[in-house]
Order: sequence, then C-alpha cells, then structure tokens
Amino acid sequence: MTASFSLPIKSSALTILAGVLLGILAPTSSEAGQRGAKGTGESRPDALYHNYCSVCHGDRGDGRSRAQNSLKPPPRDFTNAGELTREAMITITTHGKPGTAMVGWKTQLNEAEIAGVVDYIRKTFMIVALDPKLQRGKTIYAQNCIACHGARGQGSPMPIGGSVPARDLASPQARAELTRERMITAVTTGRPGTAMAGFGGRLPAADIDAVVDYVRAALMVPQTEISGTDAHAGRAAAQRPGGSRSAVATGADMMQPMPNGLKGDAAAGGRFYMANCATCHGAKGDGKGPRAYFINPKPRNFIDPTFTSSFNRPAIYAATSVGRLGTEMPAWNKVLSDREIANVSEFVFQRFVLPAQKTAKK
Ligand code: HEC
Ligand code: HEC
Ligand code: HEC
Repeated sequence: MTASFSLPIKSSALTILAGVLLGILAPTSSEAGQRGAKGTGESRPDALYHNYCSVCHGDRGDGRSRAQNSLKPPPRDFTNAGELTREAMITITTHGKPGTAMVGWKTQLNEAEIAGVVDYIRKTFMIVALDPKLQRGKTIYAQNCIACHGARGQGSPMPIGGSVPARDLASPQARAELTRERMITAVTTGRPGTAMAGFGGRLPAADIDAVVDYVRAALMVPQTEISGTDAHAGRAAAQRPGGSRSAVATGADMMQPMPNGLKGDAAAGGRFYMANCATCHGAKGDGKGPRAYFINPKPRNFIDPTFTSSFNRPAIYAATSVGRLGTEMPAWNKVLSDREIANVSEFVFQRFVLPAQKTAKK
C-alpha cells in the first residue's frame, strides 16, 4: 500500500520530510501536549488507561490495537512484560521512550495519575507475567484445557466429545457459581457424564492449583465497562450497540477534544489538506478527488452522514494517524508530527463534520 502511494506534490513531500526531521530533533516532540489544567478531570486509573493508552497498547493490554501495524517498534504487549519493574514503567510513562511512539505523559498526567495507571496495568494485564505460579498455570492451561475451553475461557459452542459443550468459564454466571474449591474438584475428578475428564491422575496437585488460579486470575475477570474513549471515541461508541455512552443513539460525542491535549490549527490543516488529502478525498470532502477513480475501496466521503455522525475529533485524528490497512489510506503518523495530524484533523472536523451537525440539529 505504502509502495503505491506517493505524495502528489514534490515540494510538499520535502516540507513533510523536514517537518519529520525537526519533529525528531525538537525536544518537545517526545512529550504529549498539555491537557489544560494538569491533573484535573477523569483520574480513575482504568479510565486513564482507556483514554490515553489503549489506543496503542490495546483494550486488553496486549499491544493489539489499530496502531499495532503502523508503529515500529509496535506498542508493548504488557501481558508478557514480566521483567518490567514498576519504577521503570513509571519513568517511561513520565518521560517517554526515545525513538519510539511512546511519548512522555508528564505534561498531561500528574505523578499520582501516572503511578495509578501503571499500577492498573500491572494488576490488570501483567498479573500472570509477574507471578511464576500463574505462569505455570498458563502453560498447563495451554497444554490441557485450551482445546475445549478456548484461549479466553469462552468455551466451545459445540460439544467436543461427549454431549455437553465445554463451559464458558468467563461468563458472569460462571464467575458467580464457580468457587475455587469447586473448580479444583472438577479439574481433579472431572465432571461425570461429560467430556471434562479428571486430571487428578495426570497432573500433580500443585499444577491443578496453578491452572485453577490462572483461570481465576486471567480469564474469570469482568470486561471493562469503559467504552468510547478519548482515543477512539466516536467510532467505538457509534459502532457498539449498547455502549455505555449516551451519545450512541445520536452518534459520537462531538464535543470530544483531540487526544493528548492537542489543539489543531484548522487554517494550517486546510492548506495541508488541499495539497495532500484532496487528491483522494476531494476538495469538497465528497471522496471524489482526482485520484479516487483509480482507487478501491474508494476514499472516505467526509460529507456523508455515516461519517459526519460518527467521526468526532479524536476519531478523525486516530483514523488519520494509523491509516486503513488494506486501502490506499496511508498511516500519516509515519510522516507527520502529532500537531500536524491534529491540524488537518481539525480542518476535516470544522469543514465537513460541524456543518452537518448543525444542519442535523435544525
Ligand atoms: C501512540 C502510541 C502509544 C500510546 C498512546 C502509549 N504508548 Fe506506551 N508504548 C508505545 C510504544 C511504541 C512503546 C515502545 C515499545 C518498545 O520499545 O518495544 C511503548 C512502551 C511503553 C512502556 C515501556 C515498555 C518497555 O518495554 O520499555 C510503558 C511502561 C508504556 N508504554 C506505558 C504507557 C502508558 C501508561 C500509556 C498511557 C498513559 C502509554 N504507554 C501510551 C506506544 C504508545
Ligand atoms: C475435552 C474437553 C475438555 C477439556 C480438555 C477440559 N474441559 Fe473443562 N469442561 C469441559 C466440559 C464439557 C465442561 C462442562 C461440564 C458440565 O457442564 O458439567 C467443563 C467444565 C469445566 C469446569 C466447570 C466445572 C463445574 O463445576 O461446572 C471447569 C472449572 C473446567 N472445566 C476447567 C478445566 C480445566 C482447568 C481444564 C484443563 C486442565 C479443562 N477444564 C479441560 C470440557 C473440557
Ligand atoms: C491515496 C489516497 C488517499 C489520500 C492521499 C488520503 N486518503 Fe484518507 N482514505 C483513503 C481511503 C481509500 C480510505 C478508506 C475508505 C474505507 O475504508 O472505506 C480513507 C479513509 C480516511 C478516513 C476515514 C477512516 C476510516 O476508518 O474510515 C479519514 C479520517 C481520512 N481518510 C483522512 C485523510 C486525511 C486527513 C488525509 C490527508 C492527510 C487523507 N485521508 C489522505 C484514501 C486516501
């Protein structure tokens, strides 16, 4: 995809390159922008994680996010980061990691918030990696249980041998019903009349303990209720029926600011848009730029209601940053600074989305 993509205007490509080099050299580029009054607003650690970190590190902390494929090195998978100390994590979260997309958050989060989000990551995503017994349990689970109960403990819809399907260990009902003792008994002696055989003869008691503790710590945990975050608000919320945001019914929350405290300059973004985005998305945002004819899937139509009802600032910012795999939409974070992405996103928002919002209200 990137191979077939070339910037339409040579001189602007040079400007971009220069911008990138400056971006790398400028000391401030490794810090996230100001979040207004530092340390105010939402400071629950889980909310902070989902607002500031999950866009790259993933909802489950395993580094699987839309950003995964466009960043080098990719965002860290915390689930196998057992060697990371709490202190190292606090330092990196505060100051960033040079040469990677990991910026420092000290301009946006205060010390307590940074410690809180790090502890949340350790407790939620690293618990298995940090505990040798749970790691042993994970290995045993992978060897003996995964075939029937699935990687996330979700069970199998169809019975695998026997007539009863493997139980969904992650369901709220299972969480309520299955005490540790009951589980140890079930794994040791099996469940008569089902494919769940007893492992008592095959695994030492310590291993049965370990696998049960692993299932309880890693798989029998409620999913976070937080949906629709700063980072991917509009789309996540708009696409997920029953999401917790009140904005779901009417579309995305259009008041959401840019992520990372960024403020876009729409005028600068407009110049950039006309030089670099309009060839595909069209000067009018209708997706009918001169290059569009040759492209499949077609560039996004920014004045279509499916776009104007669901793409708020953070959603446009995220989409522009990471691009769309399998389409001609480049990942602009490879060539632009955060601020430049904010500028062009602000322009797209003000020129195409806001007017549609206003007409819709009338
Ligand atoms: C724009 C994407 C992005 C965001 C947002 C982001 N990170 Fe990162 N993070 C990365 C990348 C990339 C790395 C570097 C991975 C590597 O060096 O292998 C990283 C590394 C880290 C590391 C160090 C891991 C190591 O192996 O040294 C920590 C800790 C971390 N991030 C915490 C956070 C926290 C906490 C947040 C939210 C406040 C956050 N990150 C937000 C992309 C991101
Ligand atoms: C051949 C498929 C299969 C394998 C392998 C298997 N299970 Fe099961 N498991 C089942 C089935 C089927 C049930 C549902 C039994 C029932 O409803 O009574 C079940 C039920 C359970 C239950 C719930 C028991 C209860 O009291 O309701 C636990 C806990 C469990 N399995 C854990 C494990 C663990 C841990 C392993 C690996 C050491 C494992 N299972 C391997 C098929 C399997
Ligand atoms: C070479 C053509 C091309 C260029 C140049 C281009 N885009 Fe795109 N853009 C696309 C295509 C193709 C899609 C994907 C449409 C789809 O997924 O159906 C897209 C999708 C998008 C989306 C929506 C993403 C989504 O998930 O649906 C946004 C926002 C966007 N582009 C912004 C921009 C901005 C801002 C620029 C300029 C900085 C830009 N694009 C430049 C082709 C392009």
